[in-house]
Amino acid sequence: MSNSEKGINGDSGRSNTEGRAVEHSAVTMTELILPHQANRLGNAHGGEIMKIMDTAAGVAALRHAHTAVVTARVDGINFYHPIKVGDFITVNAFLTFVGHSSMEVQVEVITEDIIAEKTTHALTAYFILVALNEQGKPTKVPPLIVSSEKEKELWEKGRRRYEMCRRELMAGDDNYRVCREEKVV
Ligand SMILES: CC(C)(COP(=O)(O)OP(=O)(O)OC[C@H]1O[C@@H](n2cnc3c(N)ncnc32)[C@H](O)[C@@H]1OP(=O)(O)O)[C@@H](O)C(=O)NCCC(=O)NCCS
Repeated sequence: MSNSEKGINGDSGRSNTEGRAVEHSAVTMTELILPHQANRLGNAHGGEIMKIMDTAAGVAALRHAHTAVVTARVDGINFYHPIKVGDFITVNAFLTFVGHSSMEVQVEVITEDIIAEKTTHALTAYFILVALNEQGKPTKVPPLIVSSEKEKELWEKGRRRYEMCRRELMAGDDNYRVCREEKVV
């Protein structure tokens, strides 16, 4: 799967006005970190982790939109916790908010040291993916059905980030588009 385009024409026979629940598109991927993905100290390269996160986000967005999707933006990647060779990482990706053609996907990474039987939350980031039609233009995605209190809370936070991002985009400051979780009040 390429970084720029994660799939086309997932024809499910469902219309784009029919809502889809969060769990419909939620993705969990598990991967063992191998030596070629790490530096000489055994720490995983950040880019390797980001690639897995991007793939998981892309699959979730694709499942929701059932058309081609591209990553437009990533917010909030902070590596606080080293991920080591031999660790399993589990990546959970699920939609939190949809606009017209854009989707916000929350991606969390959990590391697991099998020997020590210890799991650690490594990071959480937000990927914004945009659905494209056959002409490569942004196209409408189905509504996201949020049911639980948690899903509703995440939707509201996502909506505020979306509004903030739109203001930044409209301000046209291409070099300094920052849209971090901590800015959401
Ligand atoms: C993402 C992309 C399709 C947006 O195209 P565009 O002509 O700017 O489209 P629009 O201005 O109509 O915006 C479309 C949607 O994307 C959102 N969007 C666009 N750029 C965004 C950004 N940087 N951050 C967050 N959202 C963004 C808009 O808010 C809008 O959302 P909505 O439809 O839900 O309201 C275009 O910038 C693109 O193709 N980028 C390259 C994507 C890519 O190749 N990714 C892989 C990187 S290697």
